Amino acid sequence: MSHLKVAVDGPGGAGKSSVCKEVARRLNLLYIDTGALYRTVGLYVKRAGIDPADRDAVVASLPALSIGVRAEQGRQIILLDGAPVGDEIRTQEISMYASRVSAIPEVRAKLLDYQRGFAEEFDVILDGRDIGTVIFPDAQVKIFLTASPEARAHRRYLELTAKGVEVTEESVLAEMNERDRADSTRESAPLVAAADAVTLDTSDLDFEGSVDAVISLIKAQRYALTPEKKKKIKREKRSYRFFYYTLGWLVRFFHRIKVTGRENVPRSGGCILCSNHIAILDIFSIGASVPRPINFLAKRELFKVPILSFLIRSAGAIPLERKKTDLGAIRRSVELAANGNLVAIFPQGHRQPGKNPADTEFKSGAALVAYRAGVPILPVCIRLKRQKYRIFRRTEIFIGKPMSAEELGFVNGGSAEYREAAAKVFSEICRLGNFEKTLPAPTETDA
Ligand code: DC
Repeated sequence: MSHLKVAVDGPGGAGKSSVCKEVARRLNLLYIDTGALYRTVGLYVKRAGIDPADRDAVVASLPALSIGVRAEQGRQIILLDGAPVGDEIRTQEISMYASRVSAIPEVRAKLLDYQRGFAEEFDVILDGRDIGTVIFPDAQVKIFLTASPEARAHRRYLELTAKGVEVTEESVLAEMNERDRADSTRESAPLVAAADAVTLDTSDLDFEGSVDAVISLIKAQRYALTPEKKKKIKREKRSYRFFYYTLGWLVRFFHRIKVTGRENVPRSGGCILCSNHIAILDIFSIGASVPRPINFLAKRELFKVPILSFLIRSAGAIPLERKKTDLGAIRRSVELAANGNLVAIFPQGHRQPGKNPADTEFKSGAALVAYRAGVPILPVCIRLKRQKYRIFRRTEIFIGKPMSAEELGFVNGGSAEYREAAAKVFSEICRLGNFEKTLPAPTETDA
């Protein structure tokens, strides 16, 4: 699979670099600030005493330009002639140099391959002016991040004064308007939103709000469905409802279910339902207790059983290979949840009839799916009641409150976080059903 490419373009001061840096940290992407590359060329030209408006002189100086990049603790360090450039590229004077040199096609060509190279190895987020139009026209996610000139000038003013640079808000606004004009009217790669980019205006958003909005856009675009897939999901929902309405009475006749916490099921939006697993019939008990269609993850073998296979396939079940990490099933679950569906996963992997769930093992795939899709987890405990006649199954279903990303402890994702989140969910499942870990009987030495 090719790596994820997120292209964020927009005018200066829209908050691109600070927002992208934080988004990269939270989603585990490599962040590349392409403006810093142009700024470095600006610094190089200035050091060489070349007038940035003298195109021929700038082009003639390019063969000797040597830029390097190093990643240090997730931060991009740019090297000019082997030495880090630091804050020297952030002055207003260098902004103007960068704007001038970036209008020269030869400069852009020199930096193009270099920017493309990153995406061959990593999932990346790049911010700049032409990422979605020229560098990565094939980016899976394209965002045009903007804000009013006044809002942008105000932010840049705060940023510069915090660094001790003496400026007035008026001069920053004037410089910004001039740079906007130059960047969007130049002939070579002018600043325009790609036709397929989503525009996000951050004038009225604070930093956190902008980060959240960008993350939601990334998830929505990354997992955007084709019209055919949307139609297929609609069809599956229709079949699901049909089966539950027609077969539901039969299930409920043989199968007495007492449900607690039905009101906790979110009526809309993506969600992962996690339940302990006792019997194949669990899918019917849970299905009959939850007032919206569910996409169940079901072991691949069930898709080979005649009739059953037809039923579950047409009702939107997701086939799962249990012997290995099934990336296809994970991707499909993430896609469905990110698009507002309820996906059910049994974290124990196998049915564990007659066992106290608190004493069983569980996996963390459901947490990974919830993290990637950016949706909560709904803990559910299913408990078998004592029954007189085997044919009449009696179950109790306890539905807990949805657990948010924050409650699950997600920060940057990763296997340690998924394991911890899965443990929290599983202990909530056990708590709902009043299951406690069976402690070994005390030995004589204990006593
Ligand atoms: O985003 P910034 O302010 O650091 O960018 C500095 C200059 O570089 C800006 O005037 C436009 C130019 N630039 C560009 O032309 N293409 C890019 N991909 C990034 C920046």
